[in-house]
Amino acid sequence: MKTKITELFDIEHPIIQGGMHYVGFAELAAAVSNAGGLGIITGLTQGTPEKLANEIAKCKDMTDKPFGVNLTFLPSLTPPDYPGLIKVIIEGGVKIVETAGRSPAEYMPALKDAGIKVIHKCTSVRHSLKAQSVGCDAISVDGFECGGHPGEDDIPNFILLPRAADELEIPFVASGGMADARSLVAAMALGAEGMNMGTRFIATKDAPVHENVKKAIVNASELDTRLIMRSLTNTERVLTNPAVDRLMEKEKALGEKLTFSDIVDEVAGVYPTIMMDGDMDAGAWSCGMVAGLVYDIPSVKELIDRIMSEAEEIIQSKLKKAV
Ligand SMILES: Cc1cc2nc3c(=O)[nH]c(=O)nc-3n(C[C@H](O)[C@H](O)[C@H](O)COP(=O)(O)O)c2cc1C
Repeated sequence: MKTKITELFDIEHPIIQGGMHYVGFAELAAAVSNAGGLGIITGLTQGTPEKLANEIAKCKDMTDKPFGVNLTFLPSLTPPDYPGLIKVIIEGGVKIVETAGRSPAEYMPALKDAGIKVIHKCTSVRHSLKAQSVGCDAISVDGFECGGHPGEDDIPNFILLPRAADELEIPFVASGGMADARSLVAAMALGAEGMNMGTRFIATKDAPVHENVKKAIVNASELDTRLIMRSLTNTERVLTNPAVDRLMEKEKALGEKLTFSDIVDEVAGVYPTIMMDGDMDAGAWSCGMVAGLVYDIPSVKELIDRIMSEAEEIIQSKLKKAV
């Protein structure tokens, strides 16, 4: 399948694996890129520029296809060493960066001077337009369904994607709630040039996370996610568990008085324990509503091949026969 996104990133299939904290390591990124999609290493998970440089080198040993690095710009009192991370991305010869969180404007000159293509992930049309205006090459339009941070507008992809199509000049992929061939064909009908998946890629053989995480996603339904940290304007969609119940009790009790320190036990530093040790109740972890559409744990290649062949089937038989 050829779209503006496959052409922009020089990939075979219009499928991107979004950056994911403690999931987006070289193993997953390389598996996605080897299968013809675009794999992405999560920059901040690596911790330091040196460690990111090692992960990039490892990924290069595992694939000769294009892959990217995610840089999530978070509000922080002690911000990560973004210039250092960008330096090793450039030195490592990575040609694609997925940005998320705040606007990447400050870092665009460094990225563009190095010939890097930037896809910014955001949850609204206005942020997409801002990203376009600062020189981003593409947008990952992340609907309300998404795992992780859906923003505060609560606009699902059936509205957000065609709205983006009506406003944007640069290409965009649909992100949030994407699981299979039906997602891809629908996203393209709504104006996207491909799709970005997070949760679906965790439940694959290649994702370097504990089996318990994969099983939790397969066992979850579309009813099992919760929105937390709304009153902190830092809404996150997570899979429900006893830690999330505890956190939500505190949110209910404290209301607008809630501060980050009240919920630090449930959210801070919990990812390694969950993703590596498989302690599923250690805290709140991002997961999309799309878990309800995840029924198995295939290899990344099996998943992508299946999506592409079923997408062709939907287009060639169902859609063509209908007209
Ligand atoms: C466990 C997990 C961790 C994530 N971590 C990040 C992150 O560090 N940075 C980021 O930009 N997006 C992150 N995301 C969001 C994904 O890249 C992607 O946008 C989102 O999962 C898409 O929605 P979906 O889960 O419905 O496919 C994370 C998502 C999950 C499920």
